[in-house]
Amino acid sequence: MLISIRDIRRSFKVGEVDVEILKGVNLDVDKGELLSIMGTSGGGKSTLMNIIGLLDAPTSGQYLLEGRDVTKLTDAELSDYRNRQIGFVFQQFNLLQRLTALDNVGLPLVYRGVSTQERRERAMELLDKVGMADRAHHKPTELSGGQQQRVAIARAFVGRPSIIMGDEPTGALDTQVGQEIMNLFIQLNKEEGVTVMLITHDPGIAKQCNRVVRMKDGVVQEA
Ligand SMILES: Nc1ncnc2c1ncn2[C@@H]1O[C@H](COP(=O)(O)OP(=O)(O)OP(=O)(O)O)[C@@H](O)[C@H]1O
Ligand SMILES: [Mg+2]
Repeated sequence: MLISIRDIRRSFKVGEVDVEILKGVNLDVDKGELLSIMGTSGGGKSTLMNIIGLLDAPTSGQYLLEGRDVTKLTDAELSDYRNRQIGFVFQQFNLLQRLTALDNVGLPLVYRGVSTQERRERAMELLDKVGMADRAHHKPTELSGGQQQRVAIARAFVGRPSIIMGDEPTGALDTQVGQEIMNLFIQLNKEEGVTVMLITHDPGIAKQCNRVVRMKDGVVQEA
């Protein structure tokens, strides 16, 4: 099992009160799954994804990632694990505006101490894979939304993570461009075996996944 989550809870302090957002989530994800998370707005999807992606910690509950209890890892171990094993793709692409596509894609490798030349070679390979090699030296403002998202996917995958997580990665794109982005996730899942977890509001995207997890009011309804 890649991910095993038991009775995960997450509360946030709002003013003086603790508001419980995740109310006992259980979820198992196998290596190589292509999974989508759907559910009502405010139901806790992004909160759960942030915890799975090690960007946030649960208030209580158990989270095993590749059999390791992540609640026992130090901050340094968490960042290292996140950098090596998890790639993120967001609705608004989140590329650094002052860097070229090539340097955006190479960024995760900077933190691993990979040399500039090796970074650029590897980034170029990935840009080629997502059909963006001819835009390598463009900055994000010179690219369309769909092109920026291709670059973001290349960046998410450059370090060969075991999981790619997308928080509404097609949410800001029209249907056709969204489908092209979805095709890339499907391709990476099939050809590279990477586990893909996508939050989406689009049933057309969800039905192309092997499994749909539904969240409502802070719990997973069907997994
Ligand atoms: N840091 C925080 N502090 C306080 N409340 C928070 C925080 N993060 C999230 N919340 C609350 O948690 C609830 C769930 O938010 P979350 O972003 O997980 O929902 P979501 O399912 O991703 O919704 P959407 O589909 O609209 O993106 C919301 O009511 C939100 O206001
Ligand atoms: Mg969300």
